[in-house]
Amino acid sequence: MDIKTIGIVGAGQMGNGIAHVMALAGYDVILNDIDQDALDKALALIAKNMERQVSREKISAADRDAALARISTGTALPPVAQTDLVIEAATEREDIKQKIFDTLLPDLLPHTILTSNTSSISITRLASRTDRPEKFMGFHFMNPVPVMQLVELIRGIATDQDTYQACHGVVDRLGKTAASAEDFPAFIVNRILMPMINEAVYTLYEGVGNVMSIDQSMKLGANHPMGPLELADFIGLDTCLAIMNVLHDGLADTKYRPCPLLTKYVEAGWLGRKTGRGFYDYRGDAPVPTR
Ligand code: CAA
Repeated sequence: MDIKTIGIVGAGQMGNGIAHVMALAGYDVILNDIDQDALDKALALIAKNMERQVSREKISAADRDAALARISTGTALPPVAQTDLVIEAATEREDIKQKIFDTLLPDLLPHTILTSNTSSISITRLASRTDRPEKFMGFHFMNPVPVMQLVELIRGIATDQDTYQACHGVVDRLGKTAASAEDFPAFIVNRILMPMINEAVYTLYEGVGNVMSIDQSMKLGANHPMGPLELADFIGLDTCLAIMNVLHDGLADTKYRPCPLLTKYVEAGWLGRKTGRGFYDYRGDAPVPTR
């Protein structure tokens, strides 16, 4: 099927990145959020990130202007339901995602494909509660979306081949690379990445290293672009904890137990960059390790 319009639910760090790349690829985008303020901030951030691409000659000023003109925003869900492809990118909580799909259902077009950018929740379970499990799949971007090359495509048990190919076609048009993952907890990237981050937090918790030595070790010793604790702050510690809980519950193996120190940071509201504090304190000019 020919996808022309894309509805994105959630204007947070993933939703705004997805809107950014979809608009640059020529799709008409409706970006939705319950909060108008979040939409205004997302549009300003998209414009800023596109400006960065213009200044590095990755795109032209005309590309940027045309892409920005393709994005409309709104707080109502019915217009989103009337698009060819919906990508839900709300908070990583199943009850919230479920409510969004429930609200979309009465207004969907017969051919609308529903997808979720969930990083860990069962696609099969989300799909089973809609009227179209065969037209439902996981469409998982990595952060920062404009920079990261990979998109994980996750088929639920009922997803049909046409839906998979339509989504694969979108990934191709974005110039990104699709990796197919089966629908098991946290799919591929987070199944491997999150236990590493959780182990880094255990390494901190047990005093094997401090924040700086742990991050430096993995940057300089394993050539990772960011250390695991810096990356955890970048992803959001609440998201990291939510994914570890999905792995722990879904695979029922104690090796996935979240580190108590990760839980403590989340309880404190120290969620990483987005709240100004996590394993680093971002409130000054340069990040300062908190341990
Ligand atoms: N929009 C557009 N361009 C951006 C951007 C954005 N939001 N953020 C960075 N860039 C561009 C920069 O303009 C720059 O472009 P050039 O190469 O043309 O110069 C390039 O990206 C590199 O950026 P910087 O020079 O500012 O910084 P850097 O070299 O330190 O790279 C980084 C930043 C790309 C984020 C790098 O540190 C990195 O790759 N980190 C790891 C990211 C990662 O692992 N992401 C996956 C997280 S897991 C996930 O997302 C899944 C999940 O479900 C949790």
